[in-house]
Amino acid sequence: MTGGPLVVLVGPMGSGKSTVGALLAERLGAPYRDTDADIVAAEGREISDIFVEDGEERFRALEKAAVAAAVAEHEGVLALGGGAVLDAGTRALLAGLPVAYLSMDVEEAVRRVGLGVARPLLAVNPRRQWRELMDARRHLYEEVARAVVATDARTPEEVAEAVLDALELKDA
Ligand code: S3P
Repeated sequence: MTGGPLVVLVGPMGSGKSTVGALLAERLGAPYRDTDADIVAAEGREISDIFVEDGEERFRALEKAAVAAAVAEHEGVLALGGGAVLDAGTRALLAGLPVAYLSMDVEEAVRRVGLGVARPLLAVNPRRQWRELMDARRHLYEEVARAVVATDARTPEEVAEAVLDALELKDA
């Protein structure tokens, strides 16, 4: 049993979870961990390759296990892949943890993520895909979040600061 993560970041791809997570880890003097990176390391291949070779369902199973392991072991800042909250078991695991949802609007999303091939879910018609993804997920992010932090027109440093404020970790 550990004390659990200090901060868990959720939110859609491109919301800055990795960048903000690394800044938060620095500010808190704690390690940073990212479940996407855990999956890539364990599988020895990129997430886009897992999607193409094995399908999304297999990726979601790997992701569920990666999140459960990280939540149980990690005592620093933890960033989850954008779709991790789709799983009800994962949402139950997050209940009661200091979870911050990094939100952003569609225009900001398209500016940041664009047509990047590294994001298989947004590879075609990113604006429409984004709207559909968020219609399906917004309430799930809100359900698990202790704090919702808007990232639009804010620098990663400003977002990190807002997360510390919102989770009352300023004096940690
Ligand atoms: C996904 C988000 C990605 C990655 C995968 C699926 C999603 O993570 O897990 O491409 O379903 O939103 P990031 O949110 O870290 O980009």
